Amino acid sequence: MTTPQNQHQTPLGIDPDWWRQAVVYQIYPRSYADRDGNGIGDLKGITHRVPYLKELGVDAVWLSPFYPSQLADGGYDVDDYRDVDPKIGTLDDFDEMAATLKDAGIKLIVDIVPNHTSNQHEWFKAALAAGPGSPERDRYIFREGKGENGEEPPSDWVSIFGGPAWERVEDGQWYLHIFATEQPDLNWRNPEVHEDFKKTLRFWSDRGVDGFRIDVAHGNAKGDMWGDLPSEAELAEIPQEGQHPIWDRDEVHEIYKEWRKVFNEYNPPRTAVAEAWVQTHRRPPYAAPDELGQAFNFDLLSARFDAGEFRDIVAENLRLSAESGSSSTWVLSNHDVVRHATRYGLPTVADRKNEEVARDWLLRGGPAEELDRALGAARARAATLFILALPGSAYLYQGEELGLHEVAEIPDAERQDPTFFRSPGVNVGRDGCRVPLPWTRSGESFGFGEAGAHLPQPQWFAEYSVEAEDDETDSTLNLYRSALARRRELQTGEDLEWLDTGSDEVLAFRRLNGWVNVTNFGTVAVALPADLAAAEPVVASGAWDGKNLPGSTTVWLQV
Ligand code: NOJ
Repeated sequence: MTTPQNQHQTPLGIDPDWWRQAVVYQIYPRSYADRDGNGIGDLKGITHRVPYLKELGVDAVWLSPFYPSQLADGGYDVDDYRDVDPKIGTLDDFDEMAATLKDAGIKLIVDIVPNHTSNQHEWFKAALAAGPGSPERDRYIFREGKGENGEEPPSDWVSIFGGPAWERVEDGQWYLHIFATEQPDLNWRNPEVHEDFKKTLRFWSDRGVDGFRIDVAHGNAKGDMWGDLPSEAELAEIPQEGQHPIWDRDEVHEIYKEWRKVFNEYNPPRTAVAEAWVQTHRRPPYAAPDELGQAFNFDLLSARFDAGEFRDIVAENLRLSAESGSSSTWVLSNHDVVRHATRYGLPTVADRKNEEVARDWLLRGGPAEELDRALGAARARAATLFILALPGSAYLYQGEELGLHEVAEIPDAERQDPTFFRSPGVNVGRDGCRVPLPWTRSGESFGFGEAGAHLPQPQWFAEYSVEAEDDETDSTLNLYRSALARRRELQTGEDLEWLDTGSDEVLAFRRLNGWVNVTNFGTVAVALPADLAAAEPVVASGAWDGKNLPGSTTVWLQV
């Protein structure tokens, strides 16, 4: 498909459409590799691991926030958008990392958090100091409370992490924070906010960043916050159809049209992907070529390992990406959800989403007897191979290439996620997928760093370490390596043709060049369709005899 971006080639010969079929690997920096030994992963650690990333075969890395932060929300509470957290490194370290990635042929995407700053950001400090009615306060959403002395919050809204969404400050006003108290929401009706974010986009683009992941992209534009606000119950009833006071308002798109102009100042244009949790039919505008260009499709995060669910999701998302002129995105894990090996290893519960079932299991302490680790691992490998064969970009999350399970055994006293603190007894939060990676079988923090890990690593991490899996031919790590290498050779464009398999539990599709993916979502082995029997097997997610595909297994064939 021709878009404004691919009508010109860059002088450097870089394909401006590189992102359309890219494999993007998400790094959660503080949990990746701790090179300076302060207990927190850092940019030098990432630089040190670039050879690992190159061997893995990813096209790009996306870094979750590495900006100065008090870590009230794992870095999504940003104190300064144009600097590096001293706990994680320096701008020089950033430049070194960017150059090393570039030399390895790996693109770099950084996270932009425009819905809120942290409460330590200089703007928020100035807003507190300047007082009610000041231009400094107008950069945020401050308002008077209700009740005789304004002692009640302006509304009963609940934050996404639980607890009230308003916080009172010393002079009696309240500010809105849709997430943690430390994350005051910005007022995107204020032109200064627009200008400052464009400055940030240029700052990182000038430093060689190839693209941006936009946090809470559907939340920036708020409705009129000064009239009578609806109650939480009323809020829940308002559809997200463009006029909801908080989410997915129509005018949010004006912001991204402005940003696209900034992206297009560069050659090749900078790319962007929206984190927009909106109804599927509202997703295409975010991904349009005159806006961010791509949007996350999170539908597989809550789907079961089920042929029907997978097929419907694929068909719908290919339709949506064609509508927006973008390419689809496929995500099985990220830093906000229970790892997919674990989700697929838990019993399914009627009428409940896969991710919700897993969260309940975590809340109950993660009873080991309920998790079938081997089944979860087999399904995770099969599902990963399935998404890697689809047209579009695949977003992988650090550690999934090791087949890591969620760490359920984190004592309450060691938890960090604000979700846990703000919703006691309801949600243990997201720490279980953010535990520092195991690089070696043994040694201090399994090779993460000399000062230990900031979240406790279980003993079973040893067998999932890079060192252990390196040596094992059939390890998940080696499966990812071979799959990514073959995908690079085989990936075409936006094409996909479903094949008849004669079974409701088996999905098969062919790509233009004869690359075929067959996935058995069931439990019983099935014979390959006759017309595929002579095809050459390329990669398989598990052992098979070349004729009968076992349950929970994917094979790639070349016809
Ligand atoms: C989405 C991010 O992925 C999540 O980790 C964060 O807590 C919220 N946005 C708030 O920034």
